Amino acid sequence: MLSSFRKAVLSSAGHIRTFYGSANVCSDKMFVHRDTPDNNPQLPFEFTPENIKRVNTIIANYPKGHEAAACIPLLDLAQRQNNNWLPISAMHKVAEILKMPRMRVYEVATFYTMFNREPVGKYFVQICTTTPCILGGVGSDVILEAIKNNLGIDVGHTTKDKMFTLAEVECLGACVNAPMVQINDDYYEDLTVDDINRILNTLRDGKKPNPGPQSGQNNRFACEPKTGLTSLKEPPTGPGFGVRADL
Ligand code: FES
Repeated sequence: MLSSFRKAVLSSAGHIRTFYGSANVCSDKMFVHRDTPDNNPQLPFEFTPENIKRVNTIIANYPKGHEAAACIPLLDLAQRQNNNWLPISAMHKVAEILKMPRMRVYEVATFYTMFNREPVGKYFVQICTTTPCILGGVGSDVILEAIKNNLGIDVGHTTKDKMFTLAEVECLGACVNAPMVQINDDYYEDLTVDDINRILNTLRDGKKPNPGPQSGQNNRFACEPKTGLTSLKEPPTGPGFGVRADL
């Protein structure tokens, strides 16, 4: 496997932008488990009593004989219980509960980048550097540099105070509001360098910045055009939306 790779794109401003793939994409971290004192099969993992109820509810969503379909939600639950990372003992616990071969659980946990198989900081900062996010006046490469400067770390690393971990990821499905980052469960979109510095500084101060588009939240909700809706202007109808005239 290549030790590093390079992407080059032409920005809308006509500049060639070149950047390197993230360290964790290119390293064996993505696929291989090595026992460490903090992550080995001898360390027990148990779901909390509260989460065991959730486990049972999740499994009940699937037909009998297809309980393995609960693998991803159970791994996600285990990760949330364990400070946002998934030790190998938690994978074994999920395999035991779902009566799956451990290898099948490893396959899932190593395929999906949503699972962190090493400890991460309190705030897990994922910046999208796929093409739509990197294009434009302020592309995600500029935002990435701003994050690195603000946190003093490179991609794949955690700050010394264990507050922030930085990861470079592929499309997170918010391309219309590019550039964007995901921090834990929240999206921050329409970013400028000032925005990302303000967001990181606010988190560092122990406060929560407003998620969503940062370009003026009053005139842009989710993926609406900045100038306002041009179609589908009526309130949605149907189950779960508004009031049906015939009811
Ligand atoms: S390309 Fe960045 S969110 Fe889709």
